[in-house]
Amino acid sequence: MSPAATTESLDTIVSLARRRGFIFPSSEIYGGLGSCYDYGPLGVELKRNVKDAWWRSMVQLRDDIVGIDASIIMHPKVWEASGHVNCFHDELIECSNCQVRTRTDQIDQIEPKCKANKGSEHAWGEPRQFNLMFKTHLGPVADSGNEVYLRPETAQGIFVNFKNIMDSTRVKVPFGIAQQGKSFRNEITTRRFTFRMAEFEQMEMEFFVKPGEDEEWFTFWRNERLNWFANLGVNRDRLRHRDHEKDELAHYSKACTDVEYYFPFGWSEIEGIASRTDFDLKQHSEHSKKDLLYRDQVTNETFVPYVIEPALGCDRAILTFLADAYKEEDIDGNKRTVLSLHPRLAPTKVAVFPLLRKDGHPEKAKEVYKVLRENYQCFYDEAGNIGKRYRRQDEAGTPICVTVDHQTLEDQTATVRDRDSLEQSRVKIEALKSFIFEKFGF
Ligand code: GAP
Repeated sequence: MSPAATTESLDTIVSLARRRGFIFPSSEIYGGLGSCYDYGPLGVELKRNVKDAWWRSMVQLRDDIVGIDASIIMHPKVWEASGHVNCFHDELIECSNCQVRTRTDQIDQIEPKCKANKGSEHAWGEPRQFNLMFKTHLGPVADSGNEVYLRPETAQGIFVNFKNIMDSTRVKVPFGIAQQGKSFRNEITTRRFTFRMAEFEQMEMEFFVKPGEDEEWFTFWRNERLNWFANLGVNRDRLRHRDHEKDELAHYSKACTDVEYYFPFGWSEIEGIASRTDFDLKQHSEHSKKDLLYRDQVTNETFVPYVIEPALGCDRAILTFLADAYKEEDIDGNKRTVLSLHPRLAPTKVAVFPLLRKDGHPEKAKEVYKVLRENYQCFYDEAGNIGKRYRRQDEAGTPICVTVDHQTLEDQTATVRDRDSLEQSRVKIEALKSFIFEKFGF
């Protein structure tokens, strides 16, 4: 049985994301551009926090993984070697009456009746192969000699730097190289908000292992990656692994497992963990004529490492965190919308309010705000009644609100309100930082 989603419709999340300044359609004043989105003031903080959480767990807290930041535009031969020029295709079909287009494997996501033909069945044409890479030209003259691609995955920037990393660091197999950055795909169908975009950000890590040890590492990363979401607060019942069938595997992989999340539109992939064998290094070695062998310094053994790749889309991770944190509650007959984001991810950690806009409250509240923002992303707000200010922060996912009132001026305590339990406690101003540290764990 499937678990319950936090809301029945993705539209509720889209509407909250827009209303609170998390995510806007790109170029909205011109009508928007399907499949491209902009992150607003809260969204950009959330995105930075998601990227930081990933980087911290995948690079900074591990001794066996290093990071890189490769260019988006790479030598066109990279994409010949990787197989993307020949194999990175989707199958497209088009209705000859209403011109709606879809991937053949996503036909079930299309409105089944044709709009142009009085609601009868679509008249699907022959399937066509469609390469997903965006092409452009490097230099002032647009001819076939200077055609380049916008990268469709960050992974290849890692493979082509394998030798550089081996030559410039002291990494030893098993080790990983991680990268975050933009990728581009000319997707045929782009419904479902930021789930499938033309321009998106990936967070990928290639883990190089001795052939024969790949299965054990595949199992390790498969579990590690699902736990990453759960440790950041995602409900475990809405997370699962799905192993790929042989006929689903990408041209480079021997095995692949998706981490799936139960969205309002059903179970869908949020991250893929692939066993890429030695495919990429061998291909690049052959096409570049460079030696990409690994030499074991102790045994003098040489081999082409096998690769386990956890590949995550940052935007899809953000959609997962938003969808999972979304809650509607009834508080004494009033509806409350709240985003129960993990404090590490919350765009604002603490909101500080004066109860009144007079009697010295704003001055004292600004003092508190300035002290807290030395350690935490804070927000100061004195507009509207206190109830409305709390509601705004609930929708923004702020875990703690601190309110300064008459009593603060007498005994130097402030009210601390917890977003999830709604509990309020009085805390000495000088103890606020340690109170928050204990609550958040950072
Ligand atoms: N290097 C392997 C690779 O790119 P993928 O399964 O095609 O594998 C990895 O992509 C992840 O990137 C996906 O699980 C998803 O989270 C994200 N992703 C892929 N295409 C996307 C798109 N069009 N929009 C948003 N995220 C996307």
